[in-house]
Amino acid sequence: MIVYGAGGLGRELSKEMGLSCCYADDLDDPSMSCGPDTWEPNSNFIAAVGNGMVRSSMVKKAMSFGHRPNWWNNGDYDPPGRLQPNVIIMKGSLLTVDITIEEGVLVNIGAMVGHDCILRKYCSIQPHANLSGCEVGPFAYIGMGANIVAAKDGRLRQIGASAVIGAGAVLTHDVMAGEVWVGNPARRIR
Ligand SMILES: CC(C)(COP(=O)(O)OP(=O)(O)OC[C@H]1O[C@@H](n2cnc3c(N)ncnc32)[C@H](O)[C@@H]1OP(=O)(O)O)[C@@H](O)C(=O)NCCC(=O)NCCS
Repeated sequence: MIVYGAGGLGRELSKEMGLSCCYADDLDDPSMSCGPDTWEPNSNFIAAVGNGMVRSSMVKKAMSFGHRPNWWNNGDYDPPGRLQPNVIIMKGSLLTVDITIEEGVLVNIGAMVGHDCILRKYCSIQPHANLSGCEVGPFAYIGMGANIVAAKDGRLRQIGASAVIGAGAVLTHDVMAGEVWVGNPARRIR
């Protein structure tokens, strides 16, 4: 298995997998191996960067060279079936029951995802975020230590596509696509 991405997440994932290196494009570090054009044919890989848009374009690039996206689950999670390609569930995370996880989702170290949450494609749940009763839109980014509080009326709290929730936020409102919310209680800054 190849870890594609040599930033913090790539190195952390390599360590979890017991690999000695990760691969990167466009990196000046001569000790680093290079991108998907240099890999063995039909390599299995995982693209590991925190930003879902970047992760998705890395997957597309590697696949264009004939490589195959894999998945990683080192959390406390028993998926009902196979995980989707390029899903990454890092060490110390806890995912309970009836959770939907689409392609390319990242659940980072120590995050907690409660029952019935829906994680749409290439969203990123960063370390120690806590999610209860929510739907996280495609490419959305939940910062480290953020708390997403479920809606009172039993519906899922909505976080729109490509929205960003800042580190440490306590989110008690729905968030529209592309918005940025920070603080406790969270307020919209963009
Ligand atoms: C939300 C975030 C993306 C905003 O970044 P940004 O657009 O560069 O915003 P800025 O730093 O310009 O800050 C804008 C304002 O929001 C405030 N702010 C930014 N992030 C905040 C946060 N997490 N909590 C509270 N306030 C925050 C700033 O203090 C600033 O307020 P001011 O205008 O009164 O001075 C970023 O701060 C953040 O929290 N990123 C998540 C980091 C993370 O989880 N990394 C995980 C690595 S594994």
